[in-house]
Amino acid sequence: MAEKRHFLTLMDLSSAELRDLIDRATELKALRYAGTEPQSLSGKLLAMIFTKASTRTRVSFEAGITQLGGSALFLSGQDTQLGRGEPIEDAARVISSMVDAVMIRTYAHSDVERFATHSTVPVINGLTDDFHPCQILADLQTFFELRGDISGRKVCWLGDGNNVCHSWMNAARLLDFELVISCPEGYEPDNTLLAACGPKARIERAPEQAVQDAHLLVTDVWASMGQEAEQQARATSLGPYQLNRQLLDQAASGALYMHCLPAYRDEEITADLMDSPDTVIWQEAENRLHAQKALMEFLLHQ
Ligand code: CP
Ligand code: NVA
Repeated sequence: MAEKRHFLTLMDLSSAELRDLIDRATELKALRYAGTEPQSLSGKLLAMIFTKASTRTRVSFEAGITQLGGSALFLSGQDTQLGRGEPIEDAARVISSMVDAVMIRTYAHSDVERFATHSTVPVINGLTDDFHPCQILADLQTFFELRGDISGRKVCWLGDGNNVCHSWMNAARLLDFELVISCPEGYEPDNTLLAACGPKARIERAPEQAVQDAHLLVTDVWASMGQEAEQQARATSLGPYQLNRQLLDQAASGALYMHCLPAYRDEEITADLMDSPDTVIWQEAENRLHAQKALMEFLLHQ
């Protein structure tokens, strides 16, 4: 048996593996629509540890593994001994001795790394303060379905240089596209990660400039989970970066726009774009299911 693999950031995959995973996600979607879904994860059990809220991540992982013949166990951080201070290393040893894979959504990225170090089964990052790689799998799948290969295209990130932005930066490194990040001062993504992207990612302060010729615009909430107290100040600084029709009209013709959800209508994205008949945001959300099925197959069939 090959060595177990984790998925803590997109960089845990090679470019070829990421492309294969996107292809498999699209294949699994077609099989589901055809009613011929494989039972490829029959008997497999996924533990899902959440210390932050979730709708899409929780539902898509649980539905996904169930549809492929396996099952999932929901563990709220508060209700396990982790919430009472049991060391992550100890919990990792114990939980991983009983299940086939573990998905974790939490605050510090280092907590997921510590868990993975002491886990005997694959660990999946379901979002940390620093990265949200599962989201970008679904976003890439959506782009590939609608526009083909993203290599050589231009993607524009609007707003806070947050965890989702960081995962887009990793995607730019792996799939060779241009990522222009438009954010105000003080809301830049991690500097070390930006440097690691080299020419693939850069900051452009003016949103009207940043969106020029972009094939995809992406945004996210202004205050991520854990930053609720900063909501007001963030709204003031990030207001000019709102994804709206006026900005979209300055992007390349036929440009797509995405949002990982949950969204705040008329804050980081206008309600008319959310509700537009040609929005792909709902397809993007559904693709969380298909992309994560492909990811679980990949990790559990190593
Ligand atoms: N996009 C996303 O991860 O949604 P949830 O927070 O609902 O899981
Ligand atoms: N950046 C957001 C994404 C939510 C899916 C957060 O971390 O809260």
